[in-house]
Amino acid sequence: MSTIPKKTLSAPAGKGMTSGETPDVCSFLGMLSVVSSARMRAVMRFVERIAQSDASILITGESGSGKELIARALHQYSSRNSKSWIDINCAALPDHLIESELFGFEKGAFSGADCQKQGMFELANQGTLFLDEIGELNLKSQSKLLRVLDGCPHYRLGGTRKITVDVRIVAATNADLESEVRLGKFRADLFHRLNQVRVTVPALRERPDDIGPLANLFLEQQNPQLTLSEEALEALECYSWPGNVRELRSLMARLAVMADDTEIALEDLPPEFQTVPEPSEPSPSHSLDKLEQEVIIHALEQADGRRNRAAEMLGISRRTLIRKLKLYGVNPGRPFTCGGMEVN
Ligand SMILES: Nc1ncnc2c1ncn2[C@@H]1O[C@H](COP(=O)(O)OP(=O)(O)OP(=O)(O)O)[C@@H](O)[C@H]1O
Ligand SMILES: [Mg+2]
Repeated sequence: MSTIPKKTLSAPAGKGMTSGETPDVCSFLGMLSVVSSARMRAVMRFVERIAQSDASILITGESGSGKELIARALHQYSSRNSKSWIDINCAALPDHLIESELFGFEKGAFSGADCQKQGMFELANQGTLFLDEIGELNLKSQSKLLRVLDGCPHYRLGGTRKITVDVRIVAATNADLESEVRLGKFRADLFHRLNQVRVTVPALRERPDDIGPLANLFLEQQNPQLTLSEEALEALECYSWPGNVRELRSLMARLAVMADDTEIALEDLPPEFQTVPEPSEPSPSHSLDKLEQEVIIHALEQADGRRNRAAEMLGISRRTLIRKLKLYGVNPGRPFTCGGMEVN
């Protein structure tokens, strides 16, 4: 069984990536990350471009897709990177604590306030404030937040001194804020204030070229001796990953604990990874798919059935080609067959 060679991790210190250079593994505020697929590299180039502005950024994407990583990259690429990075998870705090966390309080402001406390806005002055899970903020806190984002000074709870801050706001959510606005659960004005620039993090299933490098990163973090067999890797690439990168990370941690060999084989993966996806039936409604199949088959013919050569001609990785062959049910042995039908 062949194994996939692993790159030794080397995360550049300081800034994550530099323009034009997009290494696979980089580090943002200490968080190791893999940016390997063309989709994620494009996202990171966009992040690098917008990081210098003071516009508010709204990061959206499925749970576990890497929104926090993007938020950290935004801070690290910005000119505020030597100042504070403050994050607050709006979903983790009860409603009555949100305001005291954001704006701080004076001694005696409420029972239990036995000392003065600075709020997150003050702590983030000149830096970045990351409002995670912003969709969970209640309507009253939303209106207070909007006032401050609109440049109004704020007061600590129980305080009389006006506080003005210079803070760059980055917010993230996996909720559909547009429909929350339509349902009256999220203020439209706050939504527009936060959504000055939008970054959408693609789901892991939309960028399968990241799966192998991420799996290797997580495995290496657990145990540098472990490798994935090619079949195991192909199965990981064909899975839909509803929990995104977080699910992949957990699976690699589980596999590392259970491993009784240095190579993780297809049989070591949970049952949902053992089934090969049904080849899709080519039909007129799938004309783009059909076109892709024809291009792949043509490349295979030109390459005399050699998958490495065909992948090279198509400008895709060999693994991507193998995944597409499986998806379309193309048999790379001659004569080429597609979904069981011979192709001329
Ligand atoms: N590109 C990546 N490289 C390495 N690790 C990643 C990458 N993307 C995400 N992760 C890891 O996956 C996990 C989930 O990422 P993160 O917390 O950024 O997701 P999220 O979109 O904020 O999730 P949630 O919506 O649940 O808050 C973290 O452990 C993170 O370090
Ligand atoms: Mg998050």
